[in-house]
Amino acid sequence: MRNLTSKKIIENFDCGINELNTYLKQYAFENDLNNIGKTYLLVDEDHILGYFTLANGSITHDDLPIEYRKIPKYPIPITRLARLGVDINYQNKGYGRKLIQSVIRIVFNTSLSVASYAIVVDVKPQSKSFYEYMGFEKLNNDLQYFYSMKKIAKYFQNIKDNKK
Ligand SMILES: CC(C)(COP(=O)(O)OP(=O)(O)OC[C@H]1O[C@@H](n2cnc3c(N)ncnc32)[C@H](O)[C@@H]1OP(=O)(O)O)[C@@H](O)C(=O)NCCC(=O)NCCS
Repeated sequence: MRNLTSKKIIENFDCGINELNTYLKQYAFENDLNNIGKTYLLVDEDHILGYFTLANGSITHDDLPIEYRKIPKYPIPITRLARLGVDINYQNKGYGRKLIQSVIRIVFNTSLSVASYAIVVDVKPQSKSFYEYMGFEKLNNDLQYFYSMKKIAKYFQNIKDNKK
């Protein structure tokens, strides 16, 4: 994984969704500099295989499914997976999973110093099944999915157990 440090490398990226291509080419670099969205690239030599963007955010108590509501009713800090895309030439080769694993690792490490209750993503209709397959759960609306920090902790515990 690599941080977005130059605009050059992103010129040919195409994940099949214009909005995500345009974000990477026109806005990601500035947003990164302005600290309103951190973009990470998965790169193979000079090709971008995929990217994602992370930012802090919050959700309301009511956004959570009932079984997750045993916490105070403050706005709940989360990490927003604001963008995710894999280039069409590299889709269905496991890179989307790889990007999600990187997101989980970054968010877990950050949450050790700054609290985050979950990763939250605004889903497009065509990507719902991908996030469900990756273990994300629905928030209390049709537009957002989440992956709780408790689940992330279990994810790392399982990796540890499998190494024993
Ligand atoms: C959605 C996207 C990120 C998936 O990336 P990918 O590299 O093609 O996915 P992977 O090859 O890593 O797939 C990992 C697993 O998810 C499954 N999967 C992939 N796309 C899926 C989908 N749309 N629905 C359900 N499962 C899916 C794969 O079959 C694979 O399963 P396996 O490991 O059991 O074989 C990619 O297709 C993409 O960039 N699409 C356009 C942009 C987009 O929709 N982004 C999300 C916006 S919110």
